[in-house]
Amino acid sequence: MSRRVVVLGGSGFVGRRLVARLLADGHRVCVLSRDAATRGRAPAGAGHRAGDVYDTAFLGEAFAGADAVVNLVGILNERGDDGSGFRKVYVELADAAIDAMRAAGVRRLLQMSALHAGDGASHYLRARGEAEARVADSGLDWTLFRPSVIAGPGDGLFCRFAGLLRFAPGLPLGGADVRFQPVWVGDVAEAFARALVDDATIGQRYDLVGPEVMTLGGIVRLTAQTLGWRRFVLPLPGALGRLQAEVGEHLPGKPISRDNWRSLRQDSTSDDNGLPKLGIAPTDVRAKLPEILGAAA
Ligand SMILES: NC(=O)c1ccc[n+]([C@@H]2O[C@H](COP(=O)([O-])OP(=O)(O)OC[C@H]3O[C@@H](n4cnc5c(N)ncnc54)[C@H](OP(=O)(O)O)[C@@H]3O)[C@@H](O)[C@H]2O)c1
Repeated sequence: MSRRVVVLGGSGFVGRRLVARLLADGHRVCVLSRDAATRGRAPAGAGHRAGDVYDTAFLGEAFAGADAVVNLVGILNERGDDGSGFRKVYVELADAAIDAMRAAGVRRLLQMSALHAGDGASHYLRARGEAEARVADSGLDWTLFRPSVIAGPGDGLFCRFAGLLRFAPGLPLGGADVRFQPVWVGDVAEAFARALVDDATIGQRYDLVGPEVMTLGGIVRLTAQTLGWRRFVLPLPGALGRLQAEVGEHLPGKPISRDNWRSLRQDSTSDDNGLPKLGIAPTDVRAKLPEILGAAA
């Protein structure tokens, strides 16, 4: 059955993929964005509304008549390092969306989170954990998704490292031995699309991980190898990794921040993969690398 779906963060890397998937399934989709200029980034066929996404009145109006709301809004870095930027984007926005959904009479909420939300000392993961708690206590028909790093064309992982390696002989790397399970962006979109039409997913949290555990250093090496570039990776010991993060925080584009470093204190892996529970066979990300890095070659 066709649903009317409002997507916050639908202009982003995951959002564009998911919106295209929902449209292909015959759903009607409206992307909400802070900026009218992102209209061009939303897939053709989707509606688009720009406004203050923290304003409950704007959200309530946009949610009117919808069957479901998807919240994909996210940042990986905040200005400063006190957690307030993450709290605004994750906790304040979750509160505003929940209030607006109640006001508009919309019950179904698909909420993006992250693996290990609420664990550790990073402001990012703490805010994500708090947002999860708000959603779980909302009384709405929610489903939460907790991916490891997400891989796909234009991602912030392989493609980002390709950008850093392009003009450098190699990369000194803090946290080189931290383990990740990159998950294919198409599988993430598929998980949301299936949950939307499956009431058995209401009240569930799904870890979303790929089939292969890779260290951060391994991911960088694999990036260079796929592109046919000879590059070195120099693993940095803890203190130097932290120093790199302190310096990186002040560089253009913030390649790494102190809070990223705190997140790197723990592996981003799971032995409770939600993809098979949703009937999805996790895609081999390594086999997708030529496609992922095609534009970077
Ligand atoms: N990519 C990953 O590896 C990964 C891993 C785990 C979890 N996640 C989570 O998955 C979600 C989607 O990730 P993504 O990679 O698609 O992110 P993305 O490409 O950066 O897109 C996120 C969207 O959030 C909106 N946004 C950004 N900053 C905002 C702010 N300060 N206030 C309000 N809205 C803001 C933007 O929409 P507008 O500019 O249109 O307003 C943007 O399109 C995020 O919650 C992210 O944290 C991603």
